[in-house]
Amino acid sequence: MNQNAREDNLTRSTSSGLTMRAVQYDQYGDADVLHAAEHPVPQRLRGHLMIEVLASSVNPIDYRFRRGDMKGLIPFGFPRVPGYDVAGIVVETDSESSFAFGDRVMAFLDQTRGGALADYAVCADSVAARIPDSMSMQHAAAIPLAGTTALQSLRDHGKIKSGQSVLINGASGGVGMFAVQIAKSYGCHVDAIASNHNREFCLSLGADHFYDYEEDDFTKSDERWDIVFDVSGKAHYLEARAVLKDRGHFISTEPSMKGLLMTILTWPLSKSGQIMLANPSGDDLRELIRLYGVGKLKVTIDSTFPFEKAAEAHRRVESGVDHGKVVLIN
Ligand SMILES: NC(=O)c1ccc[n+]([C@@H]2O[C@H](COP(=O)([O-])OP(=O)(O)OC[C@H]3O[C@@H](n4cnc5c(N)ncnc54)[C@H](OP(=O)(O)O)[C@@H]3O)[C@@H](O)[C@H]2O)c1
Repeated sequence: MNQNAREDNLTRSTSSGLTMRAVQYDQYGDADVLHAAEHPVPQRLRGHLMIEVLASSVNPIDYRFRRGDMKGLIPFGFPRVPGYDVAGIVVETDSESSFAFGDRVMAFLDQTRGGALADYAVCADSVAARIPDSMSMQHAAAIPLAGTTALQSLRDHGKIKSGQSVLINGASGGVGMFAVQIAKSYGCHVDAIASNHNREFCLSLGADHFYDYEEDDFTKSDERWDIVFDVSGKAHYLEARAVLKDRGHFISTEPSMKGLLMTILTWPLSKSGQIMLANPSGDDLRELIRLYGVGKLKVTIDSTFPFEKAAEAHRRVESGVDHGKVVLIN
């Protein structure tokens, strides 16, 4: 679509309450509840961008919401449009925005509801970043939520420093593959854990040593780490602290009441345990883009699906990808 046509299309859509194509679900359930539908074009607020979505990617949070795993925690009605990762083109913005019509951008959507699997998505300017020419839309769609989680976990929660030793438990998935590379970019010794068929993949990301979680229990290891990043959410602080160095940090991605208690009770201890919740940030996307630009952050795509096959893409992530990210193309 050329710029005039896109502007015209959007103006008609927003002003007359027309609809766009979206993937949505009207009830909790398995991936079959996902279906194509006409959905109202989201309203863009001041300080926000409207993005024509060209690509997105699936994160475990998408199927966990869809299944209703968190219905008590975050109540909202139906229909719901899933997805938090967006790569696309700016089609509407404020005149004083640092973004302009036609910019290629990526974003980790800051709407609690998601909304990426649609023709248009909106987000605050502050959570978007320009995609460099050297980066494809598919790579840009793979980075936002998973890359931000990896960066914030290691930098903000783990207080990562050069020369430290870092263990990534769940190193071959969306978050883990970024975490291994980010920890290496800080000049750390990095050990990776995944299933044996991902040994070569984890080593190719730069990991110094590999553990197969089916063979090795890292909590019984003689090694000691400054940071244990439990991406998989399968480990527990009480066991992991045995392998933490003094002033070491255990970080988990798994939100739970127990985890919240762990965060509160262990923060004054010399070995802390924290649950992290990723926070959309344009600055963090720019840092990830910088690492990509200097060759320190590679993106591996497990598989790609068109938006119409979103159910298949969800099933792929839910049943466990080979490694890397599942990307959706609009
Ligand atoms: N709190 C937050 O803000 C936040 C943000 C993002 C993600 N998350 C959560 O983080 C988790 C990981 O996300 P992701 O996108 O990286 O998922 P993913 O792509 O499905 O990757 C899962 C990883 O866990 C590994 N794994 C599976 N079973 C394991 C075990 N028993 N021990 C150690 N590793 C194991 C997998 O290795 P193999 O494939 O080799 O088996 C893979 O490397 C999800 O639960 C997600 O909900 C939370």
